[in-house]
Amino acid sequence: MQQSVPVHELKVGMQVTIPGSWFRHPFLRSRFTLNSARDIEKMKHWGVETVSVDSPRIGAPLAAHDSATPAAEEAIPSDLMEILHDQGVAPDCRAAAVKACSKMVMQRLMESAPDQETIQEAKEGFYEVIDCILEVDHLSRYLLSIRDYDAYTYSHSVNVGVLSLLVARRYFGRSSSHNLRELGIGFFLHDLGKTRINPGVIMKEGRLTDEEMTEMRRHPLYGFDILKETNQLTTECKLIVLEHHEREDGRGYPYGLYGGEIHVYARICALVDMYDALTSDRPYRGKMLPFQALNLIRGKLYDRTQRELFENLVMVLGEN
Ligand SMILES: [Fe+2]
Repeated sequence: MQQSVPVHELKVGMQVTIPGSWFRHPFLRSRFTLNSARDIEKMKHWGVETVSVDSPRIGAPLAAHDSATPAAEEAIPSDLMEILHDQGVAPDCRAAAVKACSKMVMQRLMESAPDQETIQEAKEGFYEVIDCILEVDHLSRYLLSIRDYDAYTYSHSVNVGVLSLLVARRYFGRSSSHNLRELGIGFFLHDLGKTRINPGVIMKEGRLTDEEMTEMRRHPLYGFDILKETNQLTTECKLIVLEHHEREDGRGYPYGLYGGEIHVYARICALVDMYDALTSDRPYRGKMLPFQALNLIRGKLYDRTQRELFENLVMVLGEN
């Protein structure tokens, strides 16, 4: 049963329904739970005067999502957190929320000097989006259709995180030997080491000098160091970060490893990283179309494992 309540009488924990004419914001649903005083203030700001409230829940204490940790709630606003976990929300809207949350968590982490606390917070935030990606059917086609091109490092990290996770899920199937939840964190954070590179080099338009390139190529080592120092993630995550720029033919960095010497998780990340870079506009070159990028990569496949990974990438892209 619902009753009409003026906005100034609302309390945190109430489940409210906003009249249809106010349903404008892309991430706001007409029915949601008030998780903080901020939610009430937002409605006042929008000029909403009266809402319908579900009577049985009036005043009931409620968390945004039962399993969300305080660290995750720090990283992701409550209204977005609700959308991530609300099965009643359309998949395109949930996919948009996944992308928005991922970018928010990434930006928050990379704009700080990552330490134990901020990495822990980012990890919990990414668990929320990874769970959503892994649990919700039909989400991937919407996820892959959303491409952001602003703030390249964040968008690129999120694009690579999402696509690598989908490729890994397809490649490993239902095998219980691979913890996709943990792997996903490594995929999202593969470029974490860029936080230790001079921002002038990261944002430079045009080609890097040899010296700048040498510095830029240290980011896998810096990322590995950060994860070692903060000790929040698994060894496999550390290897993804360390080896995501190794190349199958031994011409990558930092160690020049060959195909099978590179951890398979890092090989997935490297493949997707390459695909995303080729299909993104960069200051020094235009983006390729997906089929052009895939053709280029196909011409350089190294061994059976990489061919299989490539086939899975093509299938994930083709399914969506
Ligand atoms: Fe990188």
